Amino acid sequence: MRRSLAWLILFTMLLAACGGSRHPDHEQVSPNERIVIKFSHVVAENTPKGLAARRFAAIMKERTGGRVEVQVFPNSQLYGDGEEVSRLRSNDVQMIAPSLSNLSDWDPLWQVFDLPYLFDDEQGVDRVVTGSTGQQLYAGLRRLDMEPIAFWQNGFKHFTNSRGSLLLPDQFKGLRFRTQPSPVMRDALRLLGAESSYRTFDAIYTALASRELDGQENTPSNMYSKRIYEVQPYMTLSSHGYLGYVVLVNATFWNSLPPDLRETMREAMADTTQWVRENAARLNAEALERIEAGGKVIIHRQTVNEREFWRQAMEPAYRLAGERVGADAVARVIREARGE
Ligand code: LMR
Repeated sequence: MRRSLAWLILFTMLLAACGGSRHPDHEQVSPNERIVIKFSHVVAENTPKGLAARRFAAIMKERTGGRVEVQVFPNSQLYGDGEEVSRLRSNDVQMIAPSLSNLSDWDPLWQVFDLPYLFDDEQGVDRVVTGSTGQQLYAGLRRLDMEPIAFWQNGFKHFTNSRGSLLLPDQFKGLRFRTQPSPVMRDALRLLGAESSYRTFDAIYTALASRELDGQENTPSNMYSKRIYEVQPYMTLSSHGYLGYVVLVNATFWNSLPPDLRETMREAMADTTQWVRENAARLNAEALERIEAGGKVIIHRQTVNEREFWRQAMEPAYRLAGERVGADAVARVIREARGE
């Protein structure tokens, strides 16, 4: 009896040690054949980008039988938004998905995406990304040894602040806002009589909680996951700008991959991107509902007239951007955004 019990225990231990047939993926590759891709990003996991990165990692694991392991590092765990592009270029990480504003330091043309009220809807964003502006920008990324493999949506940005409801442009006077590294947003806020100050994404909460800054602009999913609603009692649903990401791979690493893996990666990315397209708006709507249900924020839904006042007040930002990137480039992006 004791002996058969001992056999049973030994048998069970052996099964557990083998991992059993439940994890065949780990057994198809030896550890030295495994390819590790570090994917670093700055936002929380329960956001469009955070969920998409995890989804991509899971698809890659499944479709390569564990040959490729995508390690996702969220929440600026590895690198903040200020340094992720240079870390990608030096191959410290192999994948990132920076917001478009973060690319304007590398190619000033990216700043056109921040032009206030350029986009009425996401179709407009798509037209610019896939149009000649997008092609020119993607070619520039390739010259910097980065391979753009997808565009991921987040959503439209809204303003929050700690001073009072923002209905008319005058109410911005004297307020200080956190922005991304964006010359266009700097101009736009200046035109409203406000100031902008760049902070990395992980520094927003502290800057607002300490009242060092009065406000910020972001999407509901970013505001909810970073608890911005705790320290910003006023929100205006202004949709004045769009937050999206280019998914980038270190080009030397990309080119070193066997063609079959590149193809698998492209397909996994296409499926992930489709998921983002179908879910980003829902995730932002849910985040907004939660912020609203929390009862800490007075939410103002901008009217058509108010939007027009804000648009007019910020319009000179287009001319100023034209002085930096060329008036033709600005005119082209307007045409593409409008589908003309
Ligand atoms: C921000 O800095 O506000 C955003 O770029 C963060 C992000 O990546 O969504």
